[in-house]
Amino acid sequence: MTTKTDVRPEWWDNIFAPSSCLVIITTVDTQGRVNAASFGTCTRVCHDPMYISFTCGEGKDTYDNIQATGEFTVNVVPFEQTMLDRTLICGLPFNAGQNELPKAGLTPLPARKLKPPRIAECHSHFECKVEWTRQWLHRLMVCGRVEAVSIDADCITDQGFIVWDKVKPAHYCGMRYRDRFVPAYDKPTRGVWRYDGNDPEFRAGENWRDAYKSTD
Ligand SMILES: Cc1cc2nc3c(=O)[nH]c(=O)nc-3n(C[C@H](O)[C@H](O)[C@H](O)COP(=O)(O)O)c2cc1C
Repeated sequence: MTTKTDVRPEWWDNIFAPSSCLVIITTVDTQGRVNAASFGTCTRVCHDPMYISFTCGEGKDTYDNIQATGEFTVNVVPFEQTMLDRTLICGLPFNAGQNELPKAGLTPLPARKLKPPRIAECHSHFECKVEWTRQWLHRLMVCGRVEAVSIDADCITDQGFIVWDKVKPAHYCGMRYRDRFVPAYDKPTRGVWRYDGNDPEFRAGENWRDAYKSTD
């Protein structure tokens, strides 16, 4: 077996790479001014109803807007050079009230239900109402209930799956990797599984034999 090595605490964060889905989150302030910020750690945390979560540092415009207006739109960034470059611009510390979208060459598109706009150049969009926030350390943890989802028409199959090589989801490698990203897609590969266990090992009523069977 390979020897394991303990990781220095200052590297722990790098080792959990990639961290999550790369997105640009739009919010608005009380005056309706648009803000866009990049997030590498945005995650779906509940399937049905669907909730999305992320954390944001104190003093950021996203932090203030979330507290003030309670809405955010998550725009998934495709792994394309131009979009990665633009995402880095949206991560710069602009003053409050500055709209990052024109600075990054991105186009706002009205959202379906909420105020924070969608970003036209991103392929999929999740409009969220803040369900709860929790302040801890110097951060705000945000959990939002998804109110509307939209996607470029050529990026979804008629069975409701994403077209992977069109959506091209990406991961941000993390702060110490600076401006580096990796693709979060490839040709989906099936896991071939078999478990020679006994029924009493499983929760009552669960049909574990069909766990990964398609229901479509
Ligand atoms: C690719 C990328 C990923 C980022 N991921 C996060 C993240 O997951 N969490 C976070 O708090 N900040 C993250 N940042 C930093 C914020 O985008 C940055 O602090 C930004 O200035 C916040 O903007 P705002 O003040 O307009 O809200 C990331 C930046 C980049 C470029």
